[in-house]
Amino acid sequence: MYILSSITLVGVLFSALVQGSGAAPNADGVSCTVTASGGDDGPAFVDAVQRCDSVKIPPETTLSIATRMDMTGLKDKNIELLGTVKFTNDMTYWINNGFYFEFQDQIAFWIVGGKNILINGGGTIDGSGQVWYDAFAANSTLLRPILLTVYQATDVTIKNITMTNGPEWINFVNEGQNVIYDGINISAVSTSSNLAKNTDGWDIYRSDNVVIINSNINNGDDCVSLKPNSTNIVASNLYCNGSHGISVGSLGQYAGVYDIVENFTSTNVQMHNAENGARIKAFAGPGVGSGIVKNVSFSFFTEANVDDPLVIDQCYETSATECAAYPSNVYIQDVTFTNFNGISSGKTKSVVASLACSPDSRCSNISVSDIYLEPPSSYGSATYSCQNVNVTGNAADLFGDCVIT
Ligand SMILES: *[C@@H]1O[C@H](CO)[C@@H](O)[C@H](O)[C@H]1NC(C)=O
Ligand SMILES: *[C@@H]1O[C@H](CO)[C@@H](O)[C@H](O)[C@H]1NC(C)=O
Ligand SMILES: *[C@@H]1O[C@H](CO)[C@@H](O)[C@H](O)[C@H]1NC(C)=O
Ligand SMILES: *[C@@H]1O[C@H](CO)[C@@H](O)[C@H](O)[C@H]1NC(C)=O
Ligand SMILES: *[C@@H]1O[C@H](CO)[C@@H](O)[C@H](O)[C@H]1NC(C)=O
Ligand SMILES: *[C@@H]1O[C@H](CO)[C@@H](O)[C@H](O)[C@H]1NC(C)=O
Ligand SMILES: *[C@@H]1O[C@H](CO)[C@@H](O)[C@H](O)[C@H]1NC(C)=O
Ligand SMILES: *[C@@H]1O[C@H](CO)[C@@H](O)[C@H](O)[C@H]1NC(C)=O
Ligand SMILES: *[C@@H]1O[C@H](CO)[C@@H](O)[C@H](O)[C@H]1NC(C)=O
Repeated sequence: MYILSSITLVGVLFSALVQGSGAAPNADGVSCTVTASGGDDGPAFVDAVQRCDSVKIPPETTLSIATRMDMTGLKDKNIELLGTVKFTNDMTYWINNGFYFEFQDQIAFWIVGGKNILINGGGTIDGSGQVWYDAFAANSTLLRPILLTVYQATDVTIKNITMTNGPEWINFVNEGQNVIYDGINISAVSTSSNLAKNTDGWDIYRSDNVVIINSNINNGDDCVSLKPNSTNIVASNLYCNGSHGISVGSLGQYAGVYDIVENFTSTNVQMHNAENGARIKAFAGPGVGSGIVKNVSFSFFTEANVDDPLVIDQCYETSATECAAYPSNVYIQDVTFTNFNGISSGKTKSVVASLACSPDSRCSNISVSDIYLEPPSSYGSATYSCQNVNVTGNAADLFGDCVIT
């Protein structure tokens, strides 16, 4: 292993050549290649990204990452991932050393931040998730690392990358602006009987202008989830399989905290074998938070074997009695569901859509158009349910008169 700091580029080049590993800068020192050392490649990869404008991981190369990677504070970087970046399955190390995020009690393998960063190249990020899926089945408080976290970053593009076997969330955008994910294939699937739980494709938090497009997601929790303060977000042209759907929320969970989701578009989504299709969920009850969901558009969803294809739940994890006494203080307004097709799973029998708002007009301007959802034929014709909301749009009649509670 070569020494990382206080050495000249010539020294690094010499060392890298001698060792046949690590980051070798080219003649002008701007473009580097990182190859596998046989040991922990984390420090060499971090060092290369800090020193070089462009860093390449060649095809057929698997970097083994045994130590957490802090790539924050970067500027104008291009990471060309042709090979694989694979995190070790040393759970003890990661539990004790992963980057900690207070929000939802999370840890992370790898944080990327700064300005103007591109990660692309057709390569793979592998989280060695199976040991975590199995351990979580025996310990439901086990901290598990997020695969890739974009943290305090502006102008980031992550393109043409496979993300496989993340132990928990796959992507976390935390305090990011102008972040694009394009052409990402996610697979978080357990090979044992223990499921790959909490493997959300994306979670967005305190971030503005995030685009997720042209991606395939095969996982065990939300396909895309907008957590508090997600503004100007696009999640489109997605194939989601096995997930919990495209979710806004849950919001309003924490007392004293105000959560915003505004300007979200999700169009052209294929949702298969999922718990939900398009969903907005907000807490009600005593001692929770508040917020606003405003200007959300879900359109062209094609669904197959989905438990709840179209959902607003504004009494999330709250009993009807409590929701009546303490309606949600997360107001939901200007939401459109347009062009939904497909067949539910039958888990909720004939119900294919449910707009369950809190009492006291906490939902407004909710529109449904061109909705053609059906349950499996054994459940007869579709039931559309709603409460405490005035539904508009050309499919409003399907919902009939909503229950007022
Ligand atoms: C993805 O990367 C592979 C390997 O570098 C390349 O052949 C392919 O053209 C890239 N695809 C896109 C859409 O950029
Ligand atoms: C569960 O995992 C956590 C580490 O995330 C650890 O602190 C705790 O002791 C474990 N619990 C059990 C019952 O093993
Ligand atoms: C993702 O999967 C699609 C469809 O199978 C494939 O065309 C594409 O090349 C894959 N992308 C990557 C980064 O491997
Ligand atoms: C989709 O998910 C189902 C179960 O959730 C699984 O059986 C199937 O193999 C997955 N399909 C693909 C293409 O990964
Ligand atoms: C969301 O943004 C609002 C307005 O800036 C702020 O008051 C609130 O604390 C933020 N909420 C979170 C969860 O960061
Ligand atoms: C709603 O959000 C979309 C982007 O998702 C934006 O183009 C549109 O201008 C917004 N509408 C309003 C009234 O803010
Ligand atoms: C939502 O979009 C509208 C129209 O583009 C814009 O005026 C407004 O500032 C956006 N809201 C947020 C929170 O960015
Ligand atoms: C209802 O919501 C739609 C979609 O966001 C918006 O275009 C429209 O202006 C809203 N209508 C009212 C009356 O606010
Ligand atoms: C429905 O609209 C009427 C007329 O604007 C209003 O009085 C009522 O409160 C609305 N109901 C709900 C549940 O929002």
